[in-house]
Amino acid sequence: MNIPTPTERTPTFHVRDIPVYGDALLSPMIGFSDLPFRSLCRELGSAMSYTEFVRAESIIRKNEHYAKKLSYRESERPVVFQIFGDDPRLLLEAALRAQELGPDILDVNMGCPAKAVVNRGAGVGLMRTPVKAARIFKKLSAALEVPVTGKIRLGWDDCRSYKLIARIVEENGGALIAVHGRTKEQGYGGRADWDAIAEVRAAVGIPVIGNGDVKTVADIQRMKSHTGCEAVMIGRAAIGNPWIFAGIDRELVTLDQVRRMMSRHLERNLAFYGPRLGLELFRKHAVQYVAPYRLSREMRRKLLTRETAAGFMAVLDEIHAAGGTKML
Ligand SMILES: Cc1cc2nc3c(=O)[nH]c(=O)nc-3n(C[C@H](O)[C@H](O)[C@H](O)COP(=O)(O)O)c2cc1C
Repeated sequence: MNIPTPTERTPTFHVRDIPVYGDALLSPMIGFSDLPFRSLCRELGSAMSYTEFVRAESIIRKNEHYAKKLSYRESERPVVFQIFGDDPRLLLEAALRAQELGPDILDVNMGCPAKAVVNRGAGVGLMRTPVKAARIFKKLSAALEVPVTGKIRLGWDDCRSYKLIARIVEENGGALIAVHGRTKEQGYGGRADWDAIAEVRAAVGIPVIGNGDVKTVADIQRMKSHTGCEAVMIGRAAIGNPWIFAGIDRELVTLDQVRRMMSRHLERNLAFYGPRLGLELFRKHAVQYVAPYRLSREMRRKLLTRETAAGFMAVLDEIHAAGGTKML
């Protein structure tokens, strides 16, 4: 069988001049879309890699955590750095510094609903200040070599400014918009409004990535057909379930495959963060990997309290050997 190399395949879409192959990708998620998990998802088929968001000031001050968040593997390209802030001047300075680290694309977060972020006008706060949003996109797209993109929500409940903001992003040089189909007030609850994502798709000429409530492989095509968007982003449903990017639904994944994936993921965490932090940060992924199974309380407790990677893997082996583990 002849497997086409990326150059022979037709790109699904372009971000300015950057070809993207594939129509599903991992959402940026603080605490989850780090190098170990992102690179696994990318290997399974996630079409590009968005980092967790990083505060503009952290980049400027070279805060110790920012470099870790903006680390990536070459094999993850196209790599998108996501930054947030509200001051156009600081965002520009941060973006220029971040660009030196070699990303393919720079994304401005306009969707985060966290109080600490929106209170200062950043994240989804920017959707209430269209003039400022325009200034940010104009400045960044004029000064940066890499394409600038934006990730938005639908707005605040009283002010669903998504079409206006999408047009502003495009008119001021933005090369792509990702839309999470919820308002700030909805947070992560309620249903994502796919009709609104379709409205954004119809309102702009640049590529649009739809986001919100894609939970199964079939949902990927369902959202694409419903909205006309070029690709979809998958957030929560990909945690503990990177196989979704390979077109495999979770219920078809065997316990053996889960065990092997957990081992690979843990190995990457340990290499990236070191033994203690690597294991600690892996636990929240582990909870999601085993969530579909009926594990005894004792087994779950053991899995989440082991102090060493070897101890952790021994519990996984025990679960595997018990065999009778049923999916819920
Ligand atoms: C734990 C968590 C962290 C998130 N962090 C970010 C982030 O850093 N940047 C961002 O643009 N969105 C972030 N989001 C939002 C997701 O990217 C996505 O828009 C949202 O979860 C809806 O998609 P879903 O229904 O597939 O989960 C986060 C969401 C979650 C649940």
